[in-house]
Amino acid sequence: MAHQGVLNADIRKSRINRNIYGHFSEHLGRCIYEGIWVGEDSPIPHTDGMRNDVLAALRQIKIPLLRWPGGCFADEYHWMDGIGPREGRKRMVNTHWGGVVENNHFGTHEFMRLCELLDCEPYISGNVGSGTVREMSEWVEYLTFGGESPMSELRKQNGREEPWKLTYFGVGNENWGCGGNMRPEYYADLYRHYQTYVRNYGDNKIQRIACGPADDNYHWTEVLMREAGRYMDFLTLHYYTIPGPSWTNKGSATGFAEGEWFGTLEKALRMDELLTRHSAVMDRYDPDKRVGLSVDEWGTWYDVEPGTNPGFLYQQNTMRDALVAALSLNIFHKHSERVRMTNIAQLVNVLQAVILTEGEKMLLTPTYHVFDMFKVHQDAELLDLTLDCGAYSYDGKEIPELSASASRDSEGRIHISLCNLNHAAGSSVSLDIRGLNGQPAHLSINGTILTADVMDAHNTFDQPEAVKPQDFTGYRLENGKLSVELPAMSVVVLELTPKP
Ligand code: AHR
Repeated sequence: MAHQGVLNADIRKSRINRNIYGHFSEHLGRCIYEGIWVGEDSPIPHTDGMRNDVLAALRQIKIPLLRWPGGCFADEYHWMDGIGPREGRKRMVNTHWGGVVENNHFGTHEFMRLCELLDCEPYISGNVGSGTVREMSEWVEYLTFGGESPMSELRKQNGREEPWKLTYFGVGNENWGCGGNMRPEYYADLYRHYQTYVRNYGDNKIQRIACGPADDNYHWTEVLMREAGRYMDFLTLHYYTIPGPSWTNKGSATGFAEGEWFGTLEKALRMDELLTRHSAVMDRYDPDKRVGLSVDEWGTWYDVEPGTNPGFLYQQNTMRDALVAALSLNIFHKHSERVRMTNIAQLVNVLQAVILTEGEKMLLTPTYHVFDMFKVHQDAELLDLTLDCGAYSYDGKEIPELSASASRDSEGRIHISLCNLNHAAGSSVSLDIRGLNGQPAHLSINGTILTADVMDAHNTFDQPEAVKPQDFTGYRLENGKLSVELPAMSVVVLELTPKP
């Protein structure tokens, strides 16, 4: 199908906050333990107990922000269990996730060290469901207070003299569900109460994050904004793409048919409507958009890989996941005036992970490659792009065939990300490039593509590079028109650099 569009390179919209490219790591399955933390005695090469291969891969995609320790785990986590000499730390049962023993070897110091090694911002979720106001307040004091106090003395005893910088703090997680089964009115009051004691010490300024809704629960957004909007800096949204009809039949990560490809992308595209409607509610209470919307859990959720612990949420990751990631990021760009943070679930070995590990082996998933290709959009300015995205039909239903976004970075380079959602047919795009002072001919262009021959193409520990980005040359620039030939099921990023 042929698609026409216009890119106005001089019409800048909102800034694409780099935190839109954030990640989420929970004490769940093999995300923290094995995926990141192997311990200081491990034969796997590591830095302070954290595996070097994973650290290097994450640095490459410039992860800006990492959320921890949950998830549902956050409202069962008592941070004092995870400090002090490791051999003396409390062992607990991770009741939410597989009923396994949590030895608390990865705690506050280890998480903050991980963020230092990744050069990313920490985002900590506090415990409202089963924790006290005092516990939350003391955690923030332990982390950020520089003077003399019981918590800063404890931190020093545990080997950390200086306070850490902490900007993002969540007051509970999914408090309508695993975080306490609360009504929005009750949580709104609790939020106001707990956040009062999340103090700013010295020059550390905390952005307080309130638990928002899941999916299309606009009532939750309404109540939270009305009752507590003025006390928060962010409200969260959780939305997972689940292809199957129910929680007991979510669909398989691989070996799926055409209908599931189409249905998964259709469900992922629903993010656009959810953001539009939740933002509309927020606009009524906060027209200046002071409060950010943080989609701090999103991604695909399938049935676990056969033979793995159902509580560990381990799934493979295919070309379909790459399309879900790419179109979701394009949607987040579009809403970047309000959406200033997102966290894909989850970092390693859980749900739509960017990395999978097995013993000392590691592989990068197709989703990883999308984050690598799209990192050029971080902190860039969204440009005005209108494109006839056409229709991709299956079984009497239609979704747009294309997803697209464009931005300009601080050095004047323009990046265009394009996805062809159609699993069976290629697509042609013709873009009129305007607003370059009449000089579109003076552009140098290069491109990268991620594509595959089959819908469930994926990387395995035996074939870790079956799906990986390649150079892309399927474009032409003539008389200010950029023509691009997108193969079926592909993600392309083009870089346009103005020549002097
Ligand atoms: O990401 C897995 C789980 O999904 C999280 O723990 C929870 O917040 C959500 O329901």
